[in-house]
Amino acid sequence: QRLQHDPAARLPLAYMRLRRAIRNVIENGEVQVGHALPSERDLARALTLSRVTVRKAIGGLVEDGLLTQRHGAGTFVSERIVKPLSRMTSFTEDLRARGLNPRSEFFERAIGEVTPEESMAMNLSPGTQVVRLHRLRYAGDEPLAIERSAVPLSLLPDPNLVEDSLYEALDKLGNRPLRALQRLRAVVLGPAQTRLLRLSAGSAGLSIERRSFLDDGRIVEFTCSWYRGDIYDFVAELQSD
Ligand code: GLP
Repeated sequence: QRLQHDPAARLPLAYMRLRRAIRNVIENGEVQVGHALPSERDLARALTLSRVTVRKAIGGLVEDGLLTQRHGAGTFVSERIVKPLSRMTSFTEDLRARGLNPRSEFFERAIGEVTPEESMAMNLSPGTQVVRLHRLRYAGDEPLAIERSAVPLSLLPDPNLVEDSLYEALDKLGNRPLRALQRLRAVVLGPAQTRLLRLSAGSAGLSIERRSFLDDGRIVEFTCSWYRGDIYDFVAELQSD
């Protein structure tokens, strides 16, 4: 019902419009995580679209990680957070796209000098000033990740510009990164980390290091994140040479 009246419907092709409309419904929390979508046939009939169109729209959202198909059972709003590796989205954007409410608890939001590790990773000379953030990142009340970021003060002149989202603050300054190098590694989370993430001792996590850059090659961030292993899927499309 709701899909029929979606204002997002100005895209040229029917499947694109439907894909956007379903995405909006999920983002607005009207269909919740873990819940089923009507069957392909029912959707096609209700919206007077062909099944090919519906299948294409749903296929795209499965690729985006927003929907999951379980054989014989139907299509569901993904419970795990499925994150395409090739897209440079922020924590906040990933969660909002799923109708979840991103939030941060700050342990640190201050100016400091680069540590030796940061200075090497960011290729900045010792003594360079950075904004340092240390955050516990939540979806609503549920902690999902721990992040430590360093951003040169020249690109982020005041730590308090980061109200919650780092990329939102950088965006406003015209300094949103365009390119990033990222390294993922499986880790056993330490006791302090499992306590913060409310996991049992010895739980697995994903350590992610991201170095992001502006168009002109200047480094914007060096962020070390520890994501919960029980909730995130990272997916990538591969092509043979
Ligand atoms: C992801 C990345 C981080 C990045 C963060 C920004 O978690 N792994 O490198 O700093 O997103 O997210 P936000 O804008 O919500 O602070």
